[in-house]
Amino acid sequence: MLATTQATWTPETTWERLLSGDPIFILDVRNRDEFESWRVEGPEPVPTINRPYFELLDLDDDEDVEAAVVRGVQDQLGDQLPQDRPILTVCGEGHTSEHLAHGLRELGYDAVNLDGGMEAWGDFYYHRVVAEHPDYTVLQVVRPARGDLSHMVISDGQAAVIDPNRHTDVYQALAAAHDARITHVLDTHAHADHISGGPELAQRNGVAYQLHPYDAIHPMDMLPARIDYAMLGDGQTIPVGRTQMDTLHVPGHTLGLIAFLVDRQYLVCGDSIFVESIARPDLGGAAEAWTPLFHASLQRLLELPAETVILPGHTVDPSFADAQGRFQAELGPLRHKNPGLQKVDAGLETFRHYILNSLPHFPEAYVEIKRVNIGLSHPEEAEARRLEVGKNACALSEVAETA
Ligand SMILES: [Fe+2]
Repeated sequence: MLATTQATWTPETTWERLLSGDPIFILDVRNRDEFESWRVEGPEPVPTINRPYFELLDLDDDEDVEAAVVRGVQDQLGDQLPQDRPILTVCGEGHTSEHLAHGLRELGYDAVNLDGGMEAWGDFYYHRVVAEHPDYTVLQVVRPARGDLSHMVISDGQAAVIDPNRHTDVYQALAAAHDARITHVLDTHAHADHISGGPELAQRNGVAYQLHPYDAIHPMDMLPARIDYAMLGDGQTIPVGRTQMDTLHVPGHTLGLIAFLVDRQYLVCGDSIFVESIARPDLGGAAEAWTPLFHASLQRLLELPAETVILPGHTVDPSFADAQGRFQAELGPLRHKNPGLQKVDAGLETFRHYILNSLPHFPEAYVEIKRVNIGLSHPEEAEARRLEVGKNACALSEVAETA
């Protein structure tokens, strides 16, 4: 078991701990609605209590905060907190939870504070190699709080970045670490769930931002994009160093969704096939019209060789990570496990019925995020953060059983 010698864990330490499967307990003191929208999660279920700070802390006049914490914990949580594992305290920005961690340590618990709170957790990214080939490397960049996945194809000093999130330093640093310059910046589609880092990253590197033109129109109000972009389309071959990516136009989640087939083997497919489910076709407000397109697109992708490795645009369930924290699957076995893919072969009517009965809640912020992503609005940092609160909701609600 990892020993906890420090009083704080960074998001990275927290993720490594979650991935290792060593026991941990979480005490989250944010308000209930904030806790409901997202929380610290790992591949294994983590016992977690949400107790808002203002309920726990009944501060008497002139009382020391930590003394009040000790009293609140003893009165309200004494019998619910474990002594045999670290207790991670979590709040919005990591300040109030720090008092809590100190109070718990005074009481003899092995308590650590999540440094920077949920704000830092939401901004945390890690990366893994998903393909190592003599001619190229493919990296998967994971933002676990949101379940957002980006990919980088690096070869011979060139790097293509697909679906970058808005913290563009992450990709810049990875390219530099591989002695590569960013030569291609591409989005599989105009995202609704998170703010794309594509236009900014392209500008930083003096290259074109690439997007399918159908996604350069807001699907609700039909306003055209106010960003510069180069047009992606079906059947293009994009060289990256000594390898190449072939484009497949696979509409459904959006009208302009493009999948990139790297070296005819690795399919960076955005929001079409996920490891645990499939994408939803209703975020443009036209589920009925887009469902047949989506069905045809999935049929097309299922014709790819069984050894094709699916590298999706999101994960919705961290328990689908492999032992290294990667989200990938071979198409052949996946088509028999993934509930959405199983419905594709059953025909359009069955598929349509399945889709229309599996649509989750449509987050209100998604209409605005799409506006941001095509340059129709420009939020400040605080607003960008507010728009991105919560896990992505780009998948259908039915998820496969964990393998
Ligand atoms: Fe998405």
